[in-house]
Amino acid sequence: VARIQPVIRPATALDLASVRDLLVATWHATYDAIYGPDEVTRITDDWHSLENLAKGLTKPAHLFLVAADQSGSIVATASATDRGEGLVWLDRLYVLPAAQGRGIGTALLHSVQAGFPDANRCGLEVESRNAQGVGFYRRAGFEGDEQGFCHHQAKAIRLEKRWPADS
Ligand SMILES: CC(C)(COP(=O)(O)OP(=O)(O)OC[C@H]1O[C@@H](n2cnc3c(N)ncnc32)[C@H](O)[C@@H]1OP(=O)(O)O)[C@@H](O)C(=O)NCCC(=O)NCCS
Repeated sequence: VARIQPVIRPATALDLASVRDLLVATWHATYDAIYGPDEVTRITDDWHSLENLAKGLTKPAHLFLVAADQSGSIVATASATDRGEGLVWLDRLYVLPAAQGRGIGTALLHSVQAGFPDANRCGLEVESRNAQGVGFYRRAGFEGDEQGFCHHQAKAIRLEKRWPADS
């Protein structure tokens, strides 16, 4: 598959409807088989409401990025928060199914790292049964197997990667 060189930039209020559409589509594609479509709809209506997404535009110590393809449509989003003491938490990283596997997730991860030049590590939680997500992060150098957030049906694992200051 051809790699795509996306344009990565901070999200604005004008992007929120597209970001919501991309999150809903990608969440169903990723999690319907694990949580069931009804539960995924319930979660995305709450977490990815326009109102909730808008909070990410002004949250302190927070980076909310979008990636656009050549035509300008938004195909991926990432957000991360500086938690202090060198730790950046990757809150969200999603690439539309049709755009996956072309380097966009990797490019977004690099942009997140570039956005926090003083950080020395990045942490995240990923659903342990999301083999694609876990595989992507392990390949990107994230390590660990500690149990993370578990609610209803979620079974997360916690991963972390060192971010050397000189890389
Ligand atoms: C996981 C995700 C963010 C990766 O982004 P992406 O743009 O598809 O990934 P990239 O194209 O940058 O791939 C990076 C590497 O991961 C590898 N990879 C992709 N899918 C993989 C899988 N199922 N298992 C192992 N490695 C995988 C690729 O081979 C690639 O390595 P390469 O460049 O050496 O070939 C994206 O696929 C996605 O949004 N998936 C659904 C939602 C999700 O799981 N999000 C993460 C959980 S929060």
